[in-house]
Amino acid sequence: MTTVEPIDAITFPAARGGCPFAPPPAYQEALEQRPITRISLWDGSRAWLVTRHEDVRTIMGDRRFSADARNDGFPFLSNGRRELAAEKPSFIRMDDPEHARFRRMLTGDFIIKRVEALRPEIQQIVDDFLDRMTAHPAPADLVTEFALPVPSLVICRLLGVPYEDHDYFQERSRILLHNLSTADQVRQARDELTNYLEELADRKAQEPDERIVSRLVARGDLTRDEVASMSLLLLIAGHETTANMTALSTLVLLRDPAQLARLREDPTLIKGAVEELLRYLSIVHSGTVRVAVETAEIGGTTIEAGEGVVCMLSTANRDASVFASPDELDVGREARRHVAFGFGVHQCLGQPLARLELQIALDTMIRRLPDLRLAVPFEQIRFRKDAAIYGVEELPVAW
Ligand code: HEM
Repeated sequence: MTTVEPIDAITFPAARGGCPFAPPPAYQEALEQRPITRISLWDGSRAWLVTRHEDVRTIMGDRRFSADARNDGFPFLSNGRRELAAEKPSFIRMDDPEHARFRRMLTGDFIIKRVEALRPEIQQIVDDFLDRMTAHPAPADLVTEFALPVPSLVICRLLGVPYEDHDYFQERSRILLHNLSTADQVRQARDELTNYLEELADRKAQEPDERIVSRLVARGDLTRDEVASMSLLLLIAGHETTANMTALSTLVLLRDPAQLARLREDPTLIKGAVEELLRYLSIVHSGTVRVAVETAEIGGTTIEAGEGVVCMLSTANRDASVFASPDELDVGREARRHVAFGFGVHQCLGQPLARLELQIALDTMIRRLPDLRLAVPFEQIRFRKDAAIYGVEELPVAW
């Protein structure tokens, strides 16, 4: 008989088990046995863990649950994240109508039609970085030579941020997204990035261009702080997520030659494959956080006003009532109901861009490097367990 850990006492975040691509066993057990369950956070506070697909969507679409960290009881998943939300929150941590006011200023830039027009430019960027990587003898670290620079250069061009400064903002975004960063480190990284973007905004006021930061400045109805905070959100969300997704997807496909072969044989599968990889990997692996601002009954559980909720996207994406054989990667699966981009009013603004970048990057890499392989044993790969966005530290490959 196996003993089951008392599931009302899950310490968050729980450790992953044998498969580094699967959610922690404690969350999966919760999904099967008690889909809305208690967790205790790093500071000893309690919150609810919501694991089912249906409940996650209900909560994320329900105005009784707030994304605004200024509300009492908001569950902070690390000391650093508390620091980040304490002052000058960006619109990801606001509720409507405040949130909608800022989001609306950017939606036009990320609609499918506008993003699709970037295809030739993104293809060129992908080709250039692959050329550079393969110009030297193998091995190479796919993270630093391909997965990270592609989305980083794309978001820099869209925002009008000089790509030459990438070391500066990548180092600091890393600190912001690491669960173990101290409050001091987070404050310093945030302040430095904010100053950097405020100075950029000042330069754009003098020498305007057609890029996002400049257009936000030119509107005239935003403070310098607001421009910097919106730009910071886009800069960080725009490269770390897609970068980790590219590297992790490559790794999972290299570990599953049958699925990789299907993609090589049938290029039309790539769109669906990206959805399946988003579902299977669920890189926003500590979920999305909300606080109840009114008492609500969800899936038979009463969540009181002032209680925090963690919507576990990774278990929702492996909910067998929605996805058959959820633990299997199947690049031919219809996976579009996944919640890897969240759900409701905060659903990822950049998703058309992320999709296009992933489709082009993975498809081009697969086709151009038919002999792509890991250059170290799988066991040596280090996973980013303590970061807000899951991924690998480095991915040594040969071709
Ligand atoms: C929001 C995931 C790429 C910009 C979100 C949320 C998720 C997510 C789960 C919802 C957070 C919440 O409800 O609390 C991802 C994943 C990506 C990705 C998995 C890549 C594979 C991008 C890119 C951009 C971006 C490329 C920018 C260009 C944003 C913004 C929000 C957001 C601005 C906040 C939206 C709002 O609050 O209205 N993303 N994202 N993301 N994402 Fe992404």
